[in-house]
Amino acid sequence: MIPDKAPKEDVFHGSGDRKKEAHIPSFDKYKELYLKSIENPDEFWGDIAKDFFWKTKHTGQFLDYNFDVTKGEIFVKCMEGASTNICYNVLDRNVHERKLGDKVAFYWEGNEPGDELTVTYRELLQRVCQFANVLKSQGVKKGDRVSIYMPMVVELVVAMLACVRIGAVHSIVFAGFSSQSLCERILDSQCSLLVTADGFYRGDKLINLKLLADEALQKCRDKGFPVHRCIMLKHLSREAEETPLVSQSPPAKRSCPGLQVPWNPEVDLCWHSLVRGASDECEPEWCESEDPLFILYTSGSTGKPKGVLHTVSGYMLYTATTFKLVFDYQPDDIYWCTADIGWITGHSYITYGPLANGATSVLFEGLPTYPDVSRMWEIVDKYHVTKFYTAPTAIRLLMKYGSEPVQKYKRESLKVLGTVGEPINPEAWQWYYTVVGEKRCPIVDTFWQTETGGHVLTPLPAATPMKPGSATFPFFGVVPAILNESGEELEGPSEGYLVFKQPWPGVMRTVYGNHQRFETIYFKKFPGYYVTGDGCRRDQDGYYWITGRIDDMLNVSGHLLSTAEVESALVEHEAIAEAAVVGRPHPVKGESLYCFVTLTDGMTFNCTLEAQLRKQVREKIGAIATPDYIQDAPGLPKTRSGKIMRRVLRKIACGERDLGDVSTLADSSVVEQLFQNRCCTAV
Ligand code: WT7
Repeated sequence: MIPDKAPKEDVFHGSGDRKKEAHIPSFDKYKELYLKSIENPDEFWGDIAKDFFWKTKHTGQFLDYNFDVTKGEIFVKCMEGASTNICYNVLDRNVHERKLGDKVAFYWEGNEPGDELTVTYRELLQRVCQFANVLKSQGVKKGDRVSIYMPMVVELVVAMLACVRIGAVHSIVFAGFSSQSLCERILDSQCSLLVTADGFYRGDKLINLKLLADEALQKCRDKGFPVHRCIMLKHLSREAEETPLVSQSPPAKRSCPGLQVPWNPEVDLCWHSLVRGASDECEPEWCESEDPLFILYTSGSTGKPKGVLHTVSGYMLYTATTFKLVFDYQPDDIYWCTADIGWITGHSYITYGPLANGATSVLFEGLPTYPDVSRMWEIVDKYHVTKFYTAPTAIRLLMKYGSEPVQKYKRESLKVLGTVGEPINPEAWQWYYTVVGEKRCPIVDTFWQTETGGHVLTPLPAATPMKPGSATFPFFGVVPAILNESGEELEGPSEGYLVFKQPWPGVMRTVYGNHQRFETIYFKKFPGYYVTGDGCRRDQDGYYWITGRIDDMLNVSGHLLSTAEVESALVEHEAIAEAAVVGRPHPVKGESLYCFVTLTDGMTFNCTLEAQLRKQVREKIGAIATPDYIQDAPGLPKTRSGKIMRRVLRKIACGERDLGDVSTLADSSVVEQLFQNRCCTAV
């Protein structure tokens, strides 16, 4: 499956300098270890597990599983019998066993240049213990779910690790999501407590987070699910003495016109007051390998978000190992992942993977374009960032401004560049490689999903020759295959459904509260395989190229949205009878939302309605789902059985007249009408 020799043509090698010190210094070494990881997983992962602390050791084989629905329930169990605590492994082990207490865990860089804080491993441990004691004093117990709705501040990491320390299950909701989305996630996970903040700035825009949190809690109450405790961090309104245990003085308090901090004395508690009286010692709760670690919601093609559940031991080993090898982590690295912790990239590659390795990271609150489009490179130089991980959408955005804002800064420290979230177009890859990395830094194009926990297809920086746009080869323990529509495995160069044949330690274990949904979504279509939902091509050299989603999902700026989710937000408007949403290629976002709406009788389509619909989608889902185009569609192209032909709508959205086979179309006149009413400009 993996070629004997790496290809010689059409590939990039990055610089050879790092090969001497690299963990995986050559393609041959990668191949050797890959074979070992598949043929002898017990030994491969067993060696890695030796670096971690186990309260009790595992018994039996490393992985036990069933991936075949025809043979019974799907399950994956990793290191059964072992007990541990991830918080202990990422903090106490680093402070006490590895003597990294004084090492910086995070350089926090605020939205406003000049706002900065430094947190060492020892300080992080103390703060986590304090907050763990706070959670306990509020009655949170092992197995309880805690929702976290916070901006990119150190306290977000503190809150998540505090949950983990006491065996509670965190469910982080990205702070860009609407109150409605937060409410749905609280209800689905039945959270007993919410942790949030007063507000934050994204660029020059103020977000009144507490206001949104309160709206969500009110909605939960209305649905008969009162959440009794809400802990609020004063981020914008904090006083100087309210930043305990940081090595530097906190950012200057600024006036924040428009900041609203509603307070409900029956429910609300102040983070700082609670922490002030809390002990900074807290015995970790020892958890079984397969105890739940966290829930993270991701869009599902039915429109109802799925609570992806990850468990303790497998996720810990997998994120630690992928971080170490994919970024070729070295002790003097300064690592920066620009993702938000509210997404899986932040969970795995800001919190768990880097901390498990004792790494120093930059934690950035702001935007790549604020106060100007040089901000990223300014930060790279400021902290001497060596490993940098971002999304293709950010690269395309910055590329529009040319190389000058990049070249204003030296970027000499950079060694490895990474991307994640969607396929990177070769043009953006070349720009990243040539302008940002000055042809010195290999690019790791990491393919993975919320569900996979960590990277599954990826180059290794000193080992894998790169092809721009290809995620190259499987990570250790991962066995990909390409299937045709009949479920047959294709050999050699081919294109079809990307699936995985066996589990790796970091794969999700279930959809929270709905194991059947888990089996249906990922295992029913092709029994015996985990189905990713992505299309994929394998070239003559065995390289994998992701071609994009093959279900009804859209990838907007590296984040998945389901067409059904947006459609249901649209039809909730009284003027809308039916809606169909498709993706239209977008130069920066990858895809943008193009919505076709059929009005109810007597309604007229105008700017007011358009604005209302946009607002409605934003309020129901979040700003990321804001439609770029809304088109009046008196009729939708449907098959005789009434199924909307999205393939045709995608063509109309792009203005492509070549529709392919439309013989199943019930009424072909609607198509011409839709072409005539096309929206040409986005809002
Ligand atoms: C979907 C997963 C994993 C963190 C970010 C998104 C797409 C992700 C790549 C890549 C091509 C990619 C896939 C995947 N995707 N990385 N390197 N090349 N496509 O997590 O929201 O769970 O989305 O993102 O379509 O299925 P997510």
